[in-house]
Amino acid sequence: MDFLSVNRTLMIATYLFLGFFIANHTITGSISLLSHHLLPCFYICLEKGNCCREHITSKSFIFECDLGATKPIGVCNGRIADNLPSEQDVISFYTSNGIGKMRIYDPNQATLQALRGTNIELILGVPNGDLQSLTTPSTANDWVQNNIVAFSPAVNFRYIAVGNEVEPSDPASQYVLPAMQNIYNALASANLGGEIKVSTSVSASLLAQSYPPSAGSFGATSPTYITPIVSFLATTGAPLLVNVYPYFAYIGDPQNIRLDFALFTAQGTVFQDGALAYQNLFDAIVDAFYSALEAAGGANVEIVVSETGWPSTGEAAATVDNATTYYKNLINHVNDGTPKKPGKAMETYLFAMFDEDQKGPAETERHFGLFSPDKQPKYNNISFS
Ligand SMILES: *[C@@H]1O[C@H](CO)[C@@H](O)[C@H](O)[C@H]1NC(C)=O
Ligand SMILES: *[C@@H]1O[C@H](CO)[C@@H](O)[C@H](O)[C@H]1NC(C)=O
Repeated sequence: MDFLSVNRTLMIATYLFLGFFIANHTITGSISLLSHHLLPCFYICLEKGNCCREHITSKSFIFECDLGATKPIGVCNGRIADNLPSEQDVISFYTSNGIGKMRIYDPNQATLQALRGTNIELILGVPNGDLQSLTTPSTANDWVQNNIVAFSPAVNFRYIAVGNEVEPSDPASQYVLPAMQNIYNALASANLGGEIKVSTSVSASLLAQSYPPSAGSFGATSPTYITPIVSFLATTGAPLLVNVYPYFAYIGDPQNIRLDFALFTAQGTVFQDGALAYQNLFDAIVDAFYSALEAAGGANVEIVVSETGWPSTGEAAATVDNATTYYKNLINHVNDGTPKKPGKAMETYLFAMFDEDQKGPAETERHFGLFSPDKQPKYNNISFS
């Protein structure tokens, strides 16, 4: 978020501006006092997730407005299907829908070509099957030359996801960190090290404990697998990419997890974790990861939600109505942050752009698209910005 900060000398002008701002916007959020701050901090959230906050320090009175924030929403471009539009069409379709961020799962050359000049921010994936070969530095260097340097800066690479949901028990897990290091070094040699961050994408199954969120931890496999990766992320200033699915948590334990908690429709606090009050499961999962990162020495490592979604059919909770509720509420929520990180916008990638007819085995796996392959929207009135 780009905040405009002003000090006391500009306070009056700021209040005039705020008056103007409020007069021209509908206030949809609330004015809240965040008691965990040492000194009071007020947030005023306006439509479209624009937030203003003021806080008083011993030296000054600071008023900050997040001006014209757009939602940090991207969409995953999964392509395990035989009936999708061409890559060129898909990229045009992202642009015409106002989707400014995309995740792809392999360096598909047609996609990269089509992305040139669009300014769409990209998460580029390294397929799990390629991890072992990238533990050879020269192979990693070629990979970076062919798939990144050849397209940069015309393609706006943001993160490289080295592996997706590689489990600690998977033999490929031993290759994740060496491949990350080699890609990092190759990017640095190409003078692209600062802007393009190297990470890996993990699923919630990596958490040995996720409840309550303050007790989130990676568990017994951590020292050999994720802790060294967390150190790498902390050192290089890269975020951890996390796939967050309240849907799977809910269907895995519908006796104990409330549907309204998973769909962001609970009224008020569902559970209290120390000083922090949880009203939705998405925040609880993200904060469990933040706690696990802290415990693994990564207190400063940020989280990017690299996948989240809700299927439209194939199981009782998978309905168009429930998915619409999930996506609308999620998109409205991402600028609010979580109880652990209030006000911190969460970069979030929806899974996925299209239904993928060649996925499985569960029927729901083929119905995670926001659109049908013929580009018809499956859900009404979802706005990505
Ligand atoms: C949402 O999911 C629940 C739980 O499976 C189901 O009972 C309900 O019918 C769904 N609601 C709608 C509106 O589709
Ligand atoms: C979509 O939005 C339009 C205009 O705001 C509204 O008239 C319509 O009822 C909405 N449709 C659904 C299904 O929510």
